[in-house]
Amino acid sequence: MIKKCLFPAAGYGTRFLPATKSIPKEMLPLVTKPLIQYGVEEAINAGCDTIAMVVSKYKKSIEDHFDNNTDIQSSINGTSKENLLNPLNNIIENTTFSYTRQLEMKGLGHAILTGQTLIGDESFAVILADDVCHSQNDSVLSQMMSIHEKYPQHCIVAIEEIPLKNTNKYGVISGEEIENNLFRVDNMIEKPEPKDAPSNLAIIGRYILTPDIFEVIKNTSPSKGGEIQITDALLTLAKKGKVLAYKFDGKRFDCGSIDGFIEATNYFYEREARDEI
Ligand code: G1P
Repeated sequence: MIKKCLFPAAGYGTRFLPATKSIPKEMLPLVTKPLIQYGVEEAINAGCDTIAMVVSKYKKSIEDHFDNNTDIQSSINGTSKENLLNPLNNIIENTTFSYTRQLEMKGLGHAILTGQTLIGDESFAVILADDVCHSQNDSVLSQMMSIHEKYPQHCIVAIEEIPLKNTNKYGVISGEEIENNLFRVDNMIEKPEPKDAPSNLAIIGRYILTPDIFEVIKNTSPSKGGEIQITDALLTLAKKGKVLAYKFDGKRFDCGSIDGFIEATNYFYEREARDEI
């Protein structure tokens, strides 16, 4: 059983400036809940009890969010507002949070490698908080956990079909469909131009990785954007038949873009309004 989920959360979030000048992008809320809390809830819902975060010196408010705030707590105790914090308090009480700092921004692969100290020698999940997912039934990570039970020696990436013109925003895979919605990956390229893309199946921010990925990342050279890409490291394992791609059931919002963020805000606002009726 996978118990640990890694959150690479050291990036600057420059697309959302000036909002992200002093607030980490992971703390921007969809309605009243920060992006990162959606991800943490998904990880816990999928069976994780340990959250490992790769942060930077500008991300202290993430640590504070997953800690007690005794002043606020004592001011709302006994009032109807207690309910607003109860779910988060429940998470804090039952989950271990650990943090390490990434000193230089050298890409997603490098961020994941920085997290090795928190993960150790076991398989783990990775959630990119920018990608907020919502499913009617099992969460995307829960769906991937079920695949991991059947294929414990494989890395798994979540994928979705995208318009071909957008391939240069994603890692893109190709492979053979070995089960319904499950592909054995034979090629993967980070942000290819549409003419070079192996398909229109894009990786979204959910991964299950086996611990051998760390050694592979150490031997992976920087590529796209001069950064060490997890897509390149995974390609090394894909060539050995060790990477699966899963076309998940559910909806995903690209909250790293303004349009996706607004779409997600409206979606969750409408859901909450419906629940209150
Ligand atoms: C990262 C990965 C990319 C993946 C994407 C999903 O890119 O490098 O392969 O498709 O996340 O959101 P980023 O969005 O951080 O540039």
